[in-house]
Parts: sequence; C-alpha cells; structure tokens
Amino acid sequence: MPVLPILEYPDERLRTKASEVTNVDDSMRLLIDNMFETMYEAPGIGLAATQVNVHQRLIVIDVSDDRSEPHVFINPQLKLLEGEITHEEGCLSVPGQYENVDRVEFIEVTALDRNGREFTLTASGLLSVCIQHECDHLDGKLFVDYLSNLKRQRIRKKLLKSQRARG
Ligand code: NI
Repeated sequence: MPVLPILEYPDERLRTKASEVTNVDDSMRLLIDNMFETMYEAPGIGLAATQVNVHQRLIVIDVSDDRSEPHVFINPQLKLLEGEITHEEGCLSVPGQYENVDRVEFIEVTALDRNGREFTLTASGLLSVCIQHECDHLDGKLFVDYLSNLKRQRIRKKLLKSQRARG
C-alpha cells in the first residue's frame, strides 16, 4: 500500500477546514487503510486526513505499543466533559517538535466507523489527548497554536530551514 505524503507546518493547506464525509464507501476505506499505513510507518499515534491533503472529516488513531487498538473516526463530534490534562504533544506535520499542551481530560466522541455505523466512545488520558489533537486538524488547527507566539515562530523558522535543506 502506498504511504501518503504528509503536509508539514507551516504549509497553509493544514489550515483548511475539512468537510463532512457524506458517503462511507470503498474509496473511503482504501483511504483509511492508507492513512493507517502512513501513520504506523511514520511512526505516529494519530493522523487526520487534513495532514495527507484530503479535506474530509476523518481521523485514524492507535495509541497502543503494538498496533492493536486501531480507531477510525469519521465526522467526529467531541463533547469535552471534565478534568484537565497536560501532555507533551508532537505531530507528524510538525516533525521533531514536542511541547506541553493543556487539554480536557475526559471526553465523549460520537462518530461513524469504517462501515458507516455510528458509535460513541468515552476517553481519557493519552487517547483523549490524541482525539482532541486530531479533531483540531480537521478545523485547520495545530498544537503549535496553543503555544506562545515566540515558541511558535521559533518552531516555524526551524521547520522552514529543514524543509529548505531537504529541497
Ligand atoms: Ni498532528
């Protein structure tokens, strides 16, 4: 299966607001499989369609150590419940950069699975952080947006430099 190219910050396409998925069909399932492949290969624990330049509301996640907990969320609807959690986040679109971000700890998410069936999941800890991070991507938001301007500019410069070095 092809591994899809991942957009990197500050690419403006990462700022696109994704559209609702209207049809969960075989082409969507192929995209899901390719996104998992891309995420595992990277390696990462979550990937939003936005990051592979597909602007539809779809994310894939697996926070396990052994690729045993794949989650697909299509048209995810987040309910932020309670609590606070601070976790050091990274992002495949912001390679090599890790910073603490404050999030809500307990969440509930309703979405469609790869067969177009609706389900609801409650999450906490790393899974919750990851779901919130990936849902942000669908609205064109990145974890660097939670940082100070100074930190964000520093990361921007670093990444532009390494992108230029790679040509
Ligand atoms: Ni990310």
